Amino acid sequence: MRGRDILVPMPVTMDTLVSLCKRRGFIFQSSEIYGGTGSCYDYGPLGVELKQNIKRLLWRDFVQSRADMVGIDASILMHPTVWKASGHLDHFTDPMVDCRECKLRFRADDVDTLPWTHYCPATKGNKFTIPPGEPCSHCGARRTLCPDCGKGLLTAPRQFNLMFKTFMGPVEEDASVAYLRPETAQAMFVNFDNVLQSMRMKLPFGIAQAGRSFRNEITPGNFIFRTREFEQMEIEYFVNPRDTVEGRPADEYWHDRWIADCMAWFQRYGLREENLKLREHDKDELSHYSKRTVDIDYRFPIGWSELMGIANRTDFDLKQHAKFSGKSLTYFDEERKEHVVPYVVEPAMGVDRALLAFMADAYVEEEVRGEKRVVLRFHPELAPVKVAVLPLLKKRDEIVRRARAIRADLAKQWRVVYDDTAAIGRLYRRQDEVGTPYCVTVDVQTVGDSEKGEAGDGKVTIRDRDSMEQARVPIDALPAVFHELLSGGAWAQVAARYPAAK
Ligand code: GAP
Repeated sequence: MRGRDILVPMPVTMDTLVSLCKRRGFIFQSSEIYGGTGSCYDYGPLGVELKQNIKRLLWRDFVQSRADMVGIDASILMHPTVWKASGHLDHFTDPMVDCRECKLRFRADDVDTLPWTHYCPATKGNKFTIPPGEPCSHCGARRTLCPDCGKGLLTAPRQFNLMFKTFMGPVEEDASVAYLRPETAQAMFVNFDNVLQSMRMKLPFGIAQAGRSFRNEITPGNFIFRTREFEQMEIEYFVNPRDTVEGRPADEYWHDRWIADCMAWFQRYGLREENLKLREHDKDELSHYSKRTVDIDYRFPIGWSELMGIANRTDFDLKQHAKFSGKSLTYFDEERKEHVVPYVVEPAMGVDRALLAFMADAYVEEEVRGEKRVVLRFHPELAPVKVAVLPLLKKRDEIVRRARAIRADLAKQWRVVYDDTAAIGRLYRRQDEVGTPYCVTVDVQTVGDSEKGEAGDGKVTIRDRDSMEQARVPIDALPAVFHELLSGGAWAQVAARYPAAK
């Protein structure tokens, strides 16, 4: 590795990521010029590319490439009875307490995990902020009042439903209440028979959907980790509960298969093994529909937290929707000549959380020749920009013209940018910081000098982001070279075929 002194993969802080995201056009606070909307974020020009790449790869690897998978794209507003049948109206709640004085609202089980404000009678009412769960070191009192204002009594816990409520049509009345979906999953259950019949599916098979979900989270936060509007990609994988695979009940076998496949997927696109772990839900933690749930946890900048969940939902959902709709949601088992209600294994992924994990894992600070270099070492298929074309001298028309032509040609296949707004060293650093895997530099040697009668060699310099090595490649070869590099080819193999550039 040329000229590199130290390589330090950082446990990056959330503040560093938030600032990079804003500065380089990945993610902005929503409605920022109005002071921002709580816990809502807008994906900027690079963020939208990254997010689309994540969704495209998920779709390619889990839907397009599998004969046992199909997709749907359902509407966000569904029949309100869906949420009665699914249990969301009754169970999708958090117990809340309100301060009678300052009116702040808290999750009942969070109150004693917060630092609390105390006006201490033993010190003439002086105000103290006391660590969560600890008593006052002066008077020995424990928290009984609002942890924030320290004055108000808290109400008894009340259940608060996390679904966003709205009204369909012009009249705001109970009969027209509708909900923004809190998960994408239910559309797969209510469309089970439509998909089964129209696509002539055979068990086991899965239906996938990627789209927005909404939850009126009481304690959103940690940037895009927990927001009120987010994107999910969920798969409902239907299996015949009477079947066995490798001597095990089919639902249990497929549950473990999906856990392994999802783990492998995250690692394939760059998450390090040591930053991932499985977490089995305790029996008392399981959702009302689940026989077993395993989370894939990631070591986020805020600590180990859920990246996605993979649940065995049994036949709960299909049975509930059959009961509430009066329609049969069964599968005819030709071999056994009987109708069965399939079991469902559900890999449920948060796209925004996946994006946060990919960014955190890709972030590296290095020291190169005494200078700090920030690099997002994105997998090439995730990188928002694949190639940056940079002219070495922007005052030479022929160099600029050739560079722009190369960009236009490569952009037919990939996201490629042109930049001439700084010196080359600075341009490289900018591309490193947003994770662009390759830069192409056009220089005097490429185009020659017509005034001196010197012909160009028609070659450009390609620079590899991670090794910072450079190779001299003919312009005509660029599409094939990038095709190889961007679809998994190793830099070392490509570079070995061309002379190194300095
Ligand atoms: N259908 C099951 C289901 O929705 P979940 O564990 O509630 O399960 C699945 O959500 C995934 O969706 C989570 O693992 C997480 O990645 C993402 N997710 C859930 N709530 C979120 C929120 N408020 N903000 C961002 N992502 C969220």
